[in-house]
Amino acid sequence: MLAIAILAAGKGTRMKSDLPKVLHSLAGKSLIDRVLSCTQGLKPNRRLIIVGHHANLVEESLKKYRDLDFVLQEPQNGTGHAIQQLRPQLKGFKGELLVLNGDVPLLKEATLSSLLKFHKESNASVTFLSASLNSPTGYGRVFTDKSGLVKEIIEDRDCTNEQRKNNLINAGIYCFDWQQLSDVLNLLSNQNSQNELYLTDTISLLKKAFHFEVDNPFEIKGINDRVQLSECERYIQERLKSFWMGKGVSFVDPISCSLSEDSNFGTDVIIEPQTHFRGKCTIGNGCHLGPGSVITNSTLAENVLAIHSFINEASIGNDTSIGPFAHIRPESNISKNSKIGNFVEIKKSFIGEGTKINHLSYVGDSTLGKNINIGAGTITANFDGKNKHRTIIDDSSKTGANSVLVAPIKIGSHVTIGAGSTVSKDIPDKSLVVERSKAIIRTKTD
Ligand code: UD1
Ligand code: CA
Repeated sequence: MLAIAILAAGKGTRMKSDLPKVLHSLAGKSLIDRVLSCTQGLKPNRRLIIVGHHANLVEESLKKYRDLDFVLQEPQNGTGHAIQQLRPQLKGFKGELLVLNGDVPLLKEATLSSLLKFHKESNASVTFLSASLNSPTGYGRVFTDKSGLVKEIIEDRDCTNEQRKNNLINAGIYCFDWQQLSDVLNLLSNQNSQNELYLTDTISLLKKAFHFEVDNPFEIKGINDRVQLSECERYIQERLKSFWMGKGVSFVDPISCSLSEDSNFGTDVIIEPQTHFRGKCTIGNGCHLGPGSVITNSTLAENVLAIHSFINEASIGNDTSIGPFAHIRPESNISKNSKIGNFVEIKKSFIGEGTKINHLSYVGDSTLGKNINIGAGTITANFDGKNKHRTIIDDSSKTGANSVLVAPIKIGSHVTIGAGSTVSKDIPDKSLVVERSKAIIRTKTD
C-alpha cells in the first residue's frame, strides 16, 4: 500500500506574500500542482494534502483532483507536527508513506519511482532524497556513519559552523515505513532554533535510515523565496526552449521569451523577442511570431505572422497575417489567407477566407464570409446596453471607412457600404448603401 502526503500548510514567510507559498506559479502552474502531477503515475492508494495557512485557498485551487484528502494542521508547528496530523487518517494503514514538500516543484516521477524501489529493496525504515550542493545554505544537512546509514539531519540554522560545511543536503522528500514512523512521531521535541517539531528529527529515531542521492540537484530545489522561484522559472524556460530548438524552432532572443509546457510547435517556426506562450498553444510549421506577441490557449495553423499582437483562445488559419497591434479575443476563428491589421480587435467572431480587416476596427459577435474588405474604422455596434447582438456579412462585401453596423444586422453578399454610414437595417445582396447627412456648402461672404 502506498500513501502520499504533501506538506502545504506553511505560510512561506520568506516569500513576503499574501498568497500561500504553494500557490505561487512556475510557467503557469502552481507549485503544488507540479508536485501533485509527479505523483499521478505512482498509483497511490491515498493522497493527503496537509493544509493550514489559507487552507481554503489551497483546497479551492485543487478542486479538479477528485481523490485528495485534506488534513488541517492548525497551528503550524513544523513539518513533524504536520505529519502527526495524519495519525487519525492513517490509523491501521500498513505500507509506505511518501512525504513530499509542497515547495519542491521540479521533481520527476521517475526519481520518486527509483526512491520507492530503493527503499523497498533495502528494507529501510526511511529513505529520503539527498543531493550534494555547491551552495547548501538553507537546507538541512545529512550526516551518515561509515556504513552509509544516516545518523541525523541537522537544519541549517541549528548547525555549528563546522557542520554547515557539509554539502550533502536533505531534499525534503521521504519514503517512510508508516508503522515505524508512527511509533516515533510522538517522541519529537521542539528544542531547536524555531521551536518547531521537525520531521527531520525522526531520522535519528528510526532504525534504518538511508539517503538516495539525485543526479540532478536542480530537480530537488526548494523554493523559500522569490529569488529561488525565479531560478526555477529560468530552469524550466531554458529546458523548454532547448527542447523546441532541437525540434526546429528558432528563438531570436530566447531569454526574452517564455513558453508553457503545454505548448507545441511545428518546424521552421521563428519566435522574435518578447513573445510569450501561455496555456495550451499549438503552433504550425513556418509561423513567424513576434516581436512582442502574447499567445494564450490558441491554435495557429501554418505560416501565420503575428507582430505585436495578443491572441487569446482563438484559432487562426494558414497564411494569415495578424497585427501589428491586433487583439484577437476568445472564441474567434480566423480562416486562411485573411489579414487582421493595425489596431484591430476581434471578439467571438468567425472571419472567412481571404477577408481583410486592415485598420482600426472592432468586430465582435460577428460572422464574416469570404473575401470581404472591412474599411478602416468599421465598428460592429454589438451591445445595446443590455444584450450582445450578432452581425453577419456575406461574401465579397465591402464596408467603407468609418462604417457603423448596428447589430443585430445582416449584410448580404457583394454589398458596398459608403464611407461614414451608420447602418441599422438588413441589406440585400448586391446593393450599395450610403447613409450620410447632406453636406451643406456655402461660400463665405467676408
Ligand atoms: C525543510 C527541511 C530541510 C530540507 C528542506 C528541503 C524540515 C524541518 N526541514 O526545510 O531539512 O533541507 O525542507 O527543501 O523539515 N510545512 C507545513 N507545516 C508546517 C511547516 C511547514 O506543512 O508547520 C510545509 C511548508 O508548507 C512547505 C514544507 O512543509 O511546503 C517545508 O517547509 P519549510 O518551512 O519550507 O522547510 P525548510 O526550512 O525549507
Ligand atoms: Ca522549503
